[in-house]
Amino acid sequence: MTSASNPYLEGNFAPVPDEATATELSVSGHIPESLCGRYLRNGPNPVTAPDPSTYHWFTGDGMVHGIRLRDGRAEWYRNRWVRSASVAEALGEAPHPGPVHAGWDFAPNTNVIGHARRTFAIVEAGARPYELTDELDTIGPCDFAGTLDGGYTAHPKRDPRTGELYAVSYFFGWGDDVEVTVLDADARVRSARRVTMGGPVSVHDCAITERFIVLLDLPVTFNMEAAAAGASFPYRWQEGYHARVGLLARDGDSTTPVWHDVEPCYVFHPLNAFDEADGDGIVLDVVRHPAMFRTQLLGPSEGVPTLERWHLDGHGGAVKEERLDDRGQEFPRVDERVVGRPHRFGYAVALEASDDIPGTESRLLRHDVEGGTSEVRSFGRGAQVGEAVFVPRDRDADEDDGWLLTIVSTPDASSSALYVLNARDVTGEPEAVIALPQRVPAGFHGNWVPDPV
Ligand SMILES: [Fe+2]
Repeated sequence: MTSASNPYLEGNFAPVPDEATATELSVSGHIPESLCGRYLRNGPNPVTAPDPSTYHWFTGDGMVHGIRLRDGRAEWYRNRWVRSASVAEALGEAPHPGPVHAGWDFAPNTNVIGHARRTFAIVEAGARPYELTDELDTIGPCDFAGTLDGGYTAHPKRDPRTGELYAVSYFFGWGDDVEVTVLDADARVRSARRVTMGGPVSVHDCAITERFIVLLDLPVTFNMEAAAAGASFPYRWQEGYHARVGLLARDGDSTTPVWHDVEPCYVFHPLNAFDEADGDGIVLDVVRHPAMFRTQLLGPSEGVPTLERWHLDGHGGAVKEERLDDRGQEFPRVDERVVGRPHRFGYAVALEASDDIPGTESRLLRHDVEGGTSEVRSFGRGAQVGEAVFVPRDRDADEDDGWLLTIVSTPDASSSALYVLNARDVTGEPEAVIALPQRVPAGFHGNWVPDPV
């Protein structure tokens, strides 16, 4: 790479320069009437041009894209930067002051969620959530009414029964500790525990079962040399690190997980986890990367990430690893109603065999992990598909009975559309394709936020 190029600033990764508002979007097919709510997606979109020689994909200012659907119509598309102080300044606007953590004011770029009828852009590594309006304007940084000590995470897990969010947060200033929080359904932290890991790890995500929160203590750690050298994301693969997975009683005060050794690897995203029907163990499905930030330092690209099933006995035995699918893939999701419970189906984005940069893939995978099969939905050579979010047909529909929503960009990265696929017919005609007024750059995560009923 020359100093003038960076794959995370080019093609469909390139930031878009404008904020747009469009109403009555053009639709082919038919938007299911019961899809009433907002599909939201976050991703990095630097507001000022970064230095390509050092820009890390994880550190671009967050921009949230949203599409509002109601009564069979696509009512609007909006994209808005999350206005941290520096983003507001770059846009020539007044800041939105609020309780940032440890002086770390960052425009969260990784995920966007609806919770307690509010909207939050979220990120890991020490920054707090930013609250947004329903129409994606910035309200300001948020500490959940003074109940959140530190920063948060990009991947809280919602218990579908209680509506509470379980999270593992990390921050280099906490040394080897992470914070495990439970955010109640009214968006107040009702429980916070510090748990000591094996080092200053980067914990991107977690999993829950009905009994446990699952802690990933894997070999990507805060690297002082990289920080001193000015790296914007100073976390690196640590050779020789003791890789392990912890089971911590989900509720109560325990701060001592039961650890299970695992072969060194990195996991950004579990697909899901659940308690074994008999015995004390759990099943944890993950996308496993053989390494991370070992040689590729500007983005997540270190070999083929595969879908694995890990068995933990609950007593500290080594993790038993079973390969479910050896094709490269990322952004695994399940039906949110089975989070922490046994799942049969999972959805992921396939990586092109020739392409090791996540975010530039053209196929979706629908896994039936019970049947041991999977289906592949292609969007055409060179098209670029993002994370697929499952929306049930109705509250009582069976698992997998509903739609998959995902943003697809054209091969020449000139435009994007929101696809609505029937999850049970992923290879068939889309239910609807909603044309968007501008390209949505490759980004990270999103969610469907249904209207309150
Ligand atoms: Fe993620």
